[in-house]
Amino acid sequence: MTQTPMTEPEQLARLTIACEALGFSMSCDPLTGALLRTLAASKPAGRILELGTGAGMSAAWIIAGMSADAALVSVENSEELVDTARSVLGDDPRVTFLHLDAATYLAEPDGSLFDLVFADTWAGKFDQLPEALALLAEGGVFVVDDLNPQLNWPDGHAPKVVDFKRSMHGNPGLFVTELDWSTGIMIATRAD
Ligand SMILES: C[S@@+](CC[C@H](N)C(=O)[O-])C[C@H]1O[C@@H](n2cnc3c(N)ncnc32)[C@H](O)[C@@H]1O
Repeated sequence: MTQTPMTEPEQLARLTIACEALGFSMSCDPLTGALLRTLAASKPAGRILELGTGAGMSAAWIIAGMSADAALVSVENSEELVDTARSVLGDDPRVTFLHLDAATYLAEPDGSLFDLVFADTWAGKFDQLPEALALLAEGGVFVVDDLNPQLNWPDGHAPKVVDFKRSMHGNPGLFVTELDWSTGIMIATRAD
């Protein structure tokens, strides 16, 4: 099986340098990125939400898959990281980077629904999961990575992952698939 993506977004080199300069090591790996690009490309004119922008690595992969009329909203509570993502990706009119607590974003929905949601921070995954799932449009796909045990998990993280998986699998309104791909992926769609 070929795992390494054959192509990658051109902005990755700049983002990698920026992440090293910031000491930021939580960006998605190329396999998750490639999956996100594929899913983004499967949603022409897709409305896409990312919770936890980081420095913009996953956003770069998502953008690479997006059609010209698709749109990405990406939420991050670190000003330094949002600024980094904006500096590399912010010229793309399809993308809106919000410097905002994802918990606030989820607590105050504006009625927008999304065709693809990458839940990559606590809010929307370990907290406020129902609120995040409620943002899925019909046919929308919910994606989470980092579900396989990682050496850098802090104390108390593993039970959160177990609880999250249990909640997802126990939700009769979802079709859920776990993939032993990258850092451990879960994808889900609404079952209605
Ligand atoms: C796993 S990293 C995101 C990595 C990014 N999605 C990528 O793959 O390139 C999680 C991010 O969530 C951010 N974060 C933590 N708590 C948050 C919150 N309450 N609201 C928004 N962002 C938050 C962190 O600053 C961090 O950048």
